[in-house]
Amino acid sequence: MRSPLSPVAAPAASPRYSLEDCRVIELPKIADPRGNLTFVEGQVHVPFDIARVYYLYDVPGGAERGGHAHRALQQLIIAMSGSFDVLLDDGRSRRQVHLNRSYYGLLVCPMIWRELSNFSSGSVCMVLASHRYDEADYYRDYAVFQRDAG
Ligand code: TYD
Repeated sequence: MRSPLSPVAAPAASPRYSLEDCRVIELPKIADPRGNLTFVEGQVHVPFDIARVYYLYDVPGGAERGGHAHRALQQLIIAMSGSFDVLLDDGRSRRQVHLNRSYYGLLVCPMIWRELSNFSSGSVCMVLASHRYDEADYYRDYAVFQRDAG
């Protein structure tokens, strides 16, 4: 596992990201008999300032989320409760990551198609994002994404 502090490659004129730029980050865990505590600081545990937080919950069995990529957005995906799978695709190859601990986060860099599935009952997926919501940042058509990423 790479260090939580190692940054994602800085965007260049023609950034070319790959699955290698995505990694699972182990977050600090303050163990306590009263209950454990984990925290995330922008530019410390994730290589970006945190501009937005959103979460998926009440996901029905068999449902799938995601199914898109982002041009510039970086995200840290955390299974706050329960578990789910994240399929990552850089337009050339694919990798699946299973998340099931609230002190691990999956760093997803720009230009990675992702699909979330196999949500366990009662699971909660929290996402820390580098930018505010911007529909123009999305690739929602896989063929268009693959043309630009491949
Ligand atoms: P979307 O990103 O497609 O969800 P997912 O990838 O989890 O399946 O977003 C679903 C809808 O929610 C879409 O209409 C855009 C809206 N949305 C916001 O308004 N703000 C946000 O921060 C996010 C993530 C989504």
